[in-house]
This record gives sequence, C-alpha cells and structure tokens, in this order.
Amino acid sequence: MSAPGDIETIMRSGPVIPVLVVDDIGHARETAEALVEGGLKVLEVTMRTPEALPAIRRMNLVPGAIVGAGTVLNDKQLDEALAAGSEFIVSPGLTDLLGRAAVKSGIPFLPGIANSGDIMRGMDLGLKHFKFFPAMAAGGIPALKALAAPFHKAKFCPTGGISPATAPDWLALDPVLCVGGSWVAPKGASPEEVVRLAREASELPV
Ligand code: 3PG
Repeated sequence: MSAPGDIETIMRSGPVIPVLVVDDIGHARETAEALVEGGLKVLEVTMRTPEALPAIRRMNLVPGAIVGAGTVLNDKQLDEALAAGSEFIVSPGLTDLLGRAAVKSGIPFLPGIANSGDIMRGMDLGLKHFKFFPAMAAGGIPALKALAAPFHKAKFCPTGGISPATAPDWLALDPVLCVGGSWVAPKGASPEEVVRLAREASELPV
C-alpha cells in the first residue's frame, strides 16, 4: 500500500492498469508482487469473484502497490471495497447512486462511460476522469476521438479488448492517460511470465 493521491495521479502512474479477476486467493499476493516488480503499481481487482475483497487486503501488503476495486456496481459494493482498503474505485458504468456515494466518500473514482450522456452525468458530479468501456466494442479509437472532442477537459482510461499490439495507438491519444487490460496477468500464468508481461506493458510509451 502506498499513498495514491487523486485519480489523475493514479492514472499517470503507469501506461497500463492491470484488470485482475482473482479466482485463487493463494496466488493473489505473488501476482501483485510480480506486477509491481514488472513496473505496474496500480492494480484493479475486479469484484467479480468472492476472492476479490480478501485479494485486495492481501495485495495491499505488497510494498509499492496501489490497489483498487473494479467492477464496483453499487453503493453496497463501494462500502465493501472501501472497508477492504481499496485506494481507488473503478466501475463499468455510471449510476447516480454509485456516483454520488463515491464522490461523497472522497475516494479516487473512475467510472465507466460509453456515450456523451454518461460523460455529462459524470461532469454533473464534478468528475472528469473516465474509463472508456468497453473500448473496442463501443467503437474503438474513432469512437473515443469523437466522444472526447466536445469534452476537452475529460481524460480517459480505455479498457476492454485492448492488447499489447493496440495499446500504443490508444496511449498516443492526448486525452488518454492510461489503458486497462487483463492481458498482463492471464489465468494460470507463472509469476515470471507476469513480470515479463508487466515489464513490457510498463515500458509502453505514454
Ligand atoms: C474490464 O473489466 O475492464 C475488462 O473486462 C477488461 O477487458 P479485457 O479483458 O479485454 O482487457
């Protein structure tokens, strides 16, 4: 665990935020250690498995790791994620209920958006950092360029369908501060493999 600061600082901590689905709590800490060793400090643990909350607690013990919760869908999950020590919160979309609760809590918050209305709802809450999700299925780079044009203050972390091959094109876009992806910690990968994938990802130009 280390002091994360605000969401912009977190997004600028590295080119890629690993999106982690933890099935086996026994490997949570070593996966986090491997990612940090490879240069990726910001870790998004998705609340898609029962192991997510204990995984956040264990990964928080890894020096240098900035551990947050992803796939946070409502205020109840927000409270659970905060109680587990999450240092930031990511959601796939933006509801009023979750948005208000997250803003009120003061936690760095990265809600998902896929259209102008989503961004406008976020801006009404005082937000300007968003996850563009699902990035490829929602239209890829042309869609994000078109969406970003009217919202020149908004900054994005595209996630969903991004690969090591396509990440550089996304990172080259001005409003893109980082990308998210699960490819850096594939299911069943050894710690050595995760270090290698994380190192490659951490060296992508921003
Ligand atoms: C997410 O939850 O952000 C995405 O499912 C991650 O997408 P990816 O598996 O295509 O990287």
